[in-house]
Amino acid sequence: MKVTAETILSILGASPAHVISVIAEQAQQRDIALYLVGGLVRDLLLGRKNLDIDFVIEGDAIAFAGHLAAIFGGPLHSHAPFGTAKWILDRAAADSMALPLDDLPHHIDFAAARSEVYQQPTALPTVYPGDIQRDLGRRDFTINTLALQLSPAAEIWRVLDFYDGIADLNQNKIRALHHRSFVDDPTRILRAFRFSQRLGFRIEPRTAQWMQDARPMLQRISGERLRNELAHILNEPRPAPVILKLQTLGILENIHPAWRVSPQLPALFKRCREHIVPWPAASDLPRLYWHIMLLEMTADDVQSIGERLGLSRVLIQSITAAARLIENAARLADPSIRPSQQTQFLEHTPPAALQIAWLVLMNEPAAQQTIETFVKVWRKQSPSIDGNDLKKMGLPPGPRYRIILERLRFAWIDGELESEADERALLNRLL
Ligand code: CTP
Repeated sequence: MKVTAETILSILGASPAHVISVIAEQAQQRDIALYLVGGLVRDLLLGRKNLDIDFVIEGDAIAFAGHLAAIFGGPLHSHAPFGTAKWILDRAAADSMALPLDDLPHHIDFAAARSEVYQQPTALPTVYPGDIQRDLGRRDFTINTLALQLSPAAEIWRVLDFYDGIADLNQNKIRALHHRSFVDDPTRILRAFRFSQRLGFRIEPRTAQWMQDARPMLQRISGERLRNELAHILNEPRPAPVILKLQTLGILENIHPAWRVSPQLPALFKRCREHIVPWPAASDLPRLYWHIMLLEMTADDVQSIGERLGLSRVLIQSITAAARLIENAARLADPSIRPSQQTQFLEHTPPAALQIAWLVLMNEPAAQQTIETFVKVWRKQSPSIDGNDLKKMGLPPGPRYRIILERLRFAWIDGELESEADERALLNRLL
């Protein structure tokens, strides 16, 4: 398999291709060994677009990225202990390369080639300066160990394939490099399923066995790292099969013993993607997915899983609220319950919870209708007078204000009032 300037141009587009060639030229002028690595090389070989541009340098990556930022502008964020730098492609950098900013990736990553030692399983590794082969050898799957050399000039377009990544790409295989891979970093278990789904690749049997063996190690991973990996899965175009697989193989249980998702998950995810609720709703898709992933649980389990994964309190509350609405579908559909009572039941429900309940209650149109009317009509109804008006009428301020105004509001919601004159009459009766 070969990658050339034309491949990069046709897959990534003119502007990213130009940035890569500019960086390659700068490295060549300094005779620095420069490699494109990681997901981008895998995806170039597969003909897939990916603007996550990662370079590895045998040498001082921070100094090299610093040269680029000095020549072309754009901020540089470096992290000396890891020898890494992020060059941000801002307006100044785009202008000095005469490229439209909108066509460019937000940033480009540079790292010094390094090797690493896991002092303890699952803890972050200690890193040492190393060569490109060792750098590639610490990665998760063979298809992610490929590198494309861009400098020195004599070596340009050399594909480095120390671990048979190309063979695995050709055979659609996810294969780990060694048996400790998942013990060192159990989040790779989740990554394997994500790549497998995205690329339509099989997890090679021995790798699958290593994953099974390392499953219990997931207990040692921080909530934040697990949440991030799950968020990556939820950002894929088709996350549901991955989540179900994690359930079937007992991996969700390794994350939290109480965690079960509904077998309806694919259909429910699809509804989140396709069914726009009949009111303006702003919740993003991953947020809706999180609700669906925890909807089957008791409130206590949602709380406990939410804490394990470090989900925000607001999200946990929203999930619990959605579950409560769904459990109360019959109540929401009951025509003998007055609109003002439904309003009191629905009030203070977070927006995403209303959206989820509406989406899940597809087979309960009357319950859906109650939610919809609440959002569009009841929620917004208010009396024509306010506290100031009551004060002007000589009523001494106190808790009665709230009671009176609420009574008027509910009368509007229940359709007891049709005009301000009606409202005035009711007010006089109340006073
Ligand atoms: N990596 C790893 N173990 C992890 C995370 C990452 O070995 N737990 C390695 C992978 O080999 C990967 C590289 O670090 O190629 C960069 O990580 P990331 O950007 O997450 O991977 P991509 O392959 O670029 O994933 P994506 O296509 O989803 O961006």
